[in-house]
Amino acid sequence: MPAAVILGGHWGDEGKGKVIDLLAGRCAYNVRYSGGSNAGHTVVNERGTFAFHQVPCGVFHPGVIPMLAAGVVLDPEALLAELAELERRGVRPERLYVSERAHLVMPYHRLLDGYLEAQRQDLRLGTTGMGIGPAYADKASRDGLRAGDMLDPDRFVQLVRRRAELANEYITAVFGGEPIDVEDLARQSAEWAVLIAPMVCDVEREIRAALSQGQVIMLEGAQGALLDIDAGSYPFVTSSSSGVAGACASLGIPVREVGPIVVALHAYMTRVGEGPFPTELEGEAGQYLLRVGNEFGTTTGRPRRCGWFDAVASRYALDVNGATSLAVTKLDVLDHLGHVRICVAYEIDGKRVSHLPSRADVLARARPVYEDLPGWKQSTQNARTWEDLPPAAQRYIRRIEELMGAPVSIVAVGPARDQTLVLRDPLEVA
Ligand code: IMP
Repeated sequence: MPAAVILGGHWGDEGKGKVIDLLAGRCAYNVRYSGGSNAGHTVVNERGTFAFHQVPCGVFHPGVIPMLAAGVVLDPEALLAELAELERRGVRPERLYVSERAHLVMPYHRLLDGYLEAQRQDLRLGTTGMGIGPAYADKASRDGLRAGDMLDPDRFVQLVRRRAELANEYITAVFGGEPIDVEDLARQSAEWAVLIAPMVCDVEREIRAALSQGQVIMLEGAQGALLDIDAGSYPFVTSSSSGVAGACASLGIPVREVGPIVVALHAYMTRVGEGPFPTELEGEAGQYLLRVGNEFGTTTGRPRRCGWFDAVASRYALDVNGATSLAVTKLDVLDHLGHVRICVAYEIDGKRVSHLPSRADVLARARPVYEDLPGWKQSTQNARTWEDLPPAAQRYIRRIEELMGAPVSIVAVGPARDQTLVLRDPLEVA
């Protein structure tokens, strides 16, 4: 069976964690393909509430092998802390495998992330501060360190020294900042290498072999399609390829080896950080979604900006990624509203537009054209089948399906694993 991809279709935080947790039990491998510790995937199940940042979030299912592929940037310190926290809470994943090709996020990347944001002033992006941009920049400029470098500890420590000295020049000369202690970092890096080297292998080769044996593989996206470095609202994007193309490049697999593509969409929209957001609700309406949806960043704790479902932006994400089905999450957050709205077009400079402009400055001028639908004004949290949903909620889901041109396979009506309606098998491709 071709690999399944689960990705977000908005600006991240669409509830991918829940969808992955739901499906991982059917998979042999759960592979994260992009991003780093900027991600925050929340899983709520009988073991409690867990926030994942780098570890793939299907690890609750025994036998699932978690992996981090080449397109990920790995923060060794944060990864070890995350694994220790999971262990403390009694979760012992199958051995985690890390791609030799995955680049490392070092403490100087985090520092530089902060300096670069401060320098941007009113053009700041609102990054998570996890060093993601600087780490991918080093990768692209061929100055990065990779997990595979940890396999030769002496050479690794030498490389760390060289890179840290270079970073110090940047920190002191450009930003007038305090240099980092190179020897301290070299010592820490040697310790990280001892702990992480046993996890490092040629993940991509393993995955190609597993595919040829017909194993079920689930590729876990991070962030969302609208934050993709190429397809997203640049510069208000993350630094990786969060879409399906990023999954193929990261895993080193041919495009034809990708099968089910499940795109998770909030029943409304959220965004953390800066950047245009045409359907953003200000004032009490936005606060309502923030409060009821508990929309606070899993990684940074920042309140998320909230707004109505944007069918233009969502449809664009589907056009780019080609969903085989949709997972609509957090429907219950809309339960008690008198009406719900869907943005079906934008008005930009007096013209009606039905596509997502590529320029963030143009998108910032977009005014939403709404279609109003009746609310259902009752709880959906106990719904488990389609028939349990109130007719107005069914109509809302059907309208999203129509506008997206893809069938809904999953509807989430609460954070817990069982607060889920499975309308069709998401891993089956029609
Ligand atoms: P960075 O990825 O930390 O560089 O941040 C770039 C932009 O992506 C900022 O607007 C962040 O808030 C946003 N971002 C990064 N990761 C996530 C995520 O997992 N969920 C939501 N937004 C994210």
